[in-house]
Amino acid sequence: MHPVEFIREKRDGKAHRPEAIEAWIRAIVRDEVPDYQVAAWLMAVFFQGMTREETFALTEAMAHSGEVLDLSQLGPTVDKHSSGGVGDKASLVVAPILAAAGAVVAKMSGRGLAHTGGTIDKLESIPGFRTELSKEEFFRLAREVGLVIAAQSADLAPADGKLYALRDVTATVESEPLIASSIMSKKLAAGARAIALDVKVGKGAFLKTLEAARSLAELMVEIGERAGRRVAAVLSQMDQPLGRAVGNAIEVQEAIRTLAGEGPEDLTELSLALAAEGLRLVGIPEERAREALESGAALAKFRQFVAAQGGDPRVVDEPERLSLAPGVAEVRANADGVVAELDAYRVGLAVLRLGGGREKKGEPIDHGVGVYLEKKIGDPVREGELLARVYHREKGLSEALALLRDAYQIGAGAEPPPLVLEVVRAP
Ligand code: URA
Repeated sequence: MHPVEFIREKRDGKAHRPEAIEAWIRAIVRDEVPDYQVAAWLMAVFFQGMTREETFALTEAMAHSGEVLDLSQLGPTVDKHSSGGVGDKASLVVAPILAAAGAVVAKMSGRGLAHTGGTIDKLESIPGFRTELSKEEFFRLAREVGLVIAAQSADLAPADGKLYALRDVTATVESEPLIASSIMSKKLAAGARAIALDVKVGKGAFLKTLEAARSLAELMVEIGERAGRRVAAVLSQMDQPLGRAVGNAIEVQEAIRTLAGEGPEDLTELSLALAAEGLRLVGIPEERAREALESGAALAKFRQFVAAQGGDPRVVDEPERLSLAPGVAEVRANADGVVAELDAYRVGLAVLRLGGGREKKGEPIDHGVGVYLEKKIGDPVREGELLARVYHREKGLSEALALLRDAYQIGAGAEPPPLVLEVVRAP
C-alpha cells in the first residue's frame, strides 16, 4: 500500500491488515519511508488506537525486523523488564535472585531514557564491567554463570529503535499499542521463555493511572502468551522513587546492599515479587526467591556475574568502592510535618541535570552523581532536618536543588503508598 493510503487508513480510524503492517515495518527498517510519514502515522495511531489484532501484528513485525535470539538450549530462561522508573535498580536484584534460584537469565538491557535510568548505565559504573559482548560470549556466560546482562544489540528489533526515536520527539510515546509493541517486540526478539514485567504507575512513570497500567499489562501478557511465551506483570507504584538511591553508582551500591539483606524494604519487596513471578512461570517454586536472597546465594551469584563480565568483584563486598562525585550538597526541610509527596519525576530530572542521564542520545554520562533520599513519603520531619543528599560535580547543581526542593511536599500526615498494586497473569 502507498504510504499516504496507509496513513489515511489509520487517520480515518480504520484497522490495517496484518500483511500491510508487516510491509510497513519492513519499509521503515529499510529506510524506504521518510520520517515525516512515519511520524504522521504514529500520531494517527496515537489518536485512533489499534485493535488487538493490529497490535499483535505490529509487535510480531517489529520483533522480526532484525535478529531473533534462540535461547531454547539454555534451559528455563527468564527475562525481566520495567516500563521505566526512577531509582529502579530492581533488575540488579531480581536477576541474581532468579539465577541463584535455578533459572537462567540471559538478558539484554537498555540505557537511561529521559528522566528514567537504565540497567546498562548502572552496571557500567562498576570499574572494568563490560556490557558489549559478542554473541559467543553472551551464550558462554549464560551457560557458565546462569546470569549475563549485555547492552541491547542494534540488530534486535531495529524497528523499535527507529519508531522510539521518532515517538520521543513527536509526543507519541504515551500510546498503549505503541508502548506494548515497543516493549514486547524487544522481549520476544531477546528469546527468553518467560518474562516478568514491572509496569510502573504514577508521577514518575509513563502511565499515570492504575486503569491505564492494568490495561497495558493485560495487553502485554496477551501478546507474549500468543507468541508462545509465559508472561506476568507486576503493577507497582512510581509516585516516589524506588528505594533511596537515584543515580548510577549510588544505585548499584543500594542494589548490592539489598542483595546482602540490608536494602530498603520497598526495593526488597518488589524484587522478591518480580522474582517469584519469574520463577513461577518456569515451574520453579516461588519460595526459592526468598531463600536465594536470605541465604546469600543471590549475592554470591552477583559477585560471580560481575567478575565474569570483567568488573571488580571487590565492590560486592565493599560497595563504597564505587566512587560517588566528591561534592555533597544537602536539601533540608522548610517546615515541621510529614513527607506527604516526593515527586519521582522531579527527582529523576534532578539527577539528569547533574549529568547522571542523557539530554541527547549518545551523550556521555557521569556515573558518580546522584541523590540519596534520607526521607520518603510518610516520614516525620522537623524544620531544618536533612531530606536528601546530592552528590555532584560542577554541572546542574542549582537546578537539581530547586527540583528536589519542589519534589518534597511536607504536610500534616501521610502514609507511604502501597508498592505492589496488582499482579496480572495469563488466564
Ligand atoms: N519502554 C519501552 O521500551 N518502550 C516504550 O514505548 C515505553 C517504555
